[in-house]
Amino acid sequence: MHCQLLSCICIPRAVSVQPKTTFARSKSANERKVGHCTKVPRSNNMESLQTGYLFPEIFIRESEHMRKNPHARLIKLGVGDTTEPIPDIITSAMAEQARALSTGRGYRGYGPEQGDAALRTAIAEKLYQDTGVKGNEIFVSDGAQCDISRFQMLLAPNVSVAVQDPSFPAYTDSSVILGRAGKLQVETGKYGGIVYMKCRPESNFFPDLSTTPRTDIIFFCSPNNPTGSAASWQQLKQLVEFAKANGSIIVYDSAYAAYITDDSPRSIFQIPGAKEVAIEISSFSKLAGFTGVRLAWTVVPEELSYSNGYPVIKDYNRIVCTCFNGASNISQAGGLACLSAEAYKALSNIMGYYKENTKILLDTFASLGMKVYGGTNAPYIWVHFPGLSSWDVFTEILEKTDIVTVPGVGFGPGGEGYVRVSSFGHRECILEASKRLRNYYK
Ligand SMILES: Cc1ncc(COP(=O)(O)O)c(C=O)c1O
Repeated sequence: MHCQLLSCICIPRAVSVQPKTTFARSKSANERKVGHCTKVPRSNNMESLQTGYLFPEIFIRESEHMRKNPHARLIKLGVGDTTEPIPDIITSAMAEQARALSTGRGYRGYGPEQGDAALRTAIAEKLYQDTGVKGNEIFVSDGAQCDISRFQMLLAPNVSVAVQDPSFPAYTDSSVILGRAGKLQVETGKYGGIVYMKCRPESNFFPDLSTTPRTDIIFFCSPNNPTGSAASWQQLKQLVEFAKANGSIIVYDSAYAAYITDDSPRSIFQIPGAKEVAIEISSFSKLAGFTGVRLAWTVVPEELSYSNGYPVIKDYNRIVCTCFNGASNISQAGGLACLSAEAYKALSNIMGYYKENTKILLDTFASLGMKVYGGTNAPYIWVHFPGLSSWDVFTEILEKTDIVTVPGVGFGPGGEGYVRVSSFGHRECILEASKRLRNYYK
């Protein structure tokens, strides 16, 4: 059992923490080197960025826990990294592409910066049926995380930004890095200049747009990381109307769209009129276990324009050609293979496996009388511990059950009082986690 449990351990990834979460032990950013320094000033934006990092801090706490309890059998349900092997039909396509590179006929150097034409067409046809999205509007990339920042390079420095609260930290942090935010306000845990759209369970974690001020950019993630909730048709229609009325651009992150099992929209482009107000960023990471392979895409519709009428797609193309040079041809071969009927079925089975894990975890917390959200359309569950500090809950769960979760406040001040539990993991780890949680909280 020991080995099996260790095999579900995910390697932490550096995702920066949102404000208000200051870590006594995360002091590296305040350290100043003694000795020779260059004359290059540090960017004020980087100075503004919250100095603590969520996952390294979690890793420090885990390591300390393991140092104090060397025999603990740790179960990591924290970082949302996939654990199940990629179907052979997909890795074979990548292997074939890699082998072809050693042949005169099969060798390829730089590809089109926008991505392989066959892959762009396949994404449009398989994942954007009936939305009007065309292959030439799809830009293949090396990761959704990179695209979140890359897209922002084409925007004027002073554009204003709104984020869901809580939300995936990359939106806020990249906005800070690019100079779109003011200083961190310690009392509120928010950056000045950024609009935090509070997302509460009463409204299925959808913000109250009637009180949301206008911004140029609205980051919106559905199904949402961390709450696991997917916006409904009616909510997305409202969002598109809001953006249209305000002349805003929605940056819609659908990295978990393939986990939707009810009839919620899988793409913002299913909503009429969305092509005039949105781009969509998505990924093979959670769809196909490509977190290490690295492959994603961004849809930039031809209809989307700046205030002067210039098409955004032309600038995006310019950014991609200048600041990127195309995704690896090996990973693109894998991506194309993913979209065949046989491979997609195999991937759906794996996602179904993770969803069964989610159900086990959901049932566990619910049977303990806890309020738990998400899970139906996402591989995450969002557990409420009213009135408690999410870091305290994280610590208690770690110390009492040897299970790693993520404190909700790491996703923004609106996440205080919650922890996020990931269902990526081998079944035996999930069952063991369920047993330990039931024993501890009974
Ligand atoms: C909402 C969301 N967007 C984007 C990403 C990053 O995806 P990628 O692996 O393609 O960079 C993640 C990863 O966890 C995510 O949760």
